[in-house]
Amino acid sequence: SFEIKLASSGTTYRIPAGKTVVEVLAEHDIEIPTSCEQGVCGTCITRVIEGTPDHRDVYLTDDERARNDQFTPCCSRARSATLVLDL
Ligand code: FES
Repeated sequence: SFEIKLASSGTTYRIPAGKTVVEVLAEHDIEIPTSCEQGVCGTCITRVIEGTPDHRDVYLTDDERARNDQFTPCCSRARSATLVLDL
């Protein structure tokens, strides 16, 4: 598992194996717009302020992936213990 921290509130949420970032945040009434929920469409793209995403989408280019400043929370996870999101 890993943690998501929201830059605006400073609140952290643990993302367990088997749940997506979108799912866990929705449980706390933080709705990220989604469409495909499979990493294909890019609708859910969210800015990453700190930490290293584990990109699981097929939407971002290799260059975009390498910058680690955005990710697709419908399916992607984290390589670092925490991801700070611009939310
Ligand atoms: Fe389509 Fe996340 S909802 S990439």
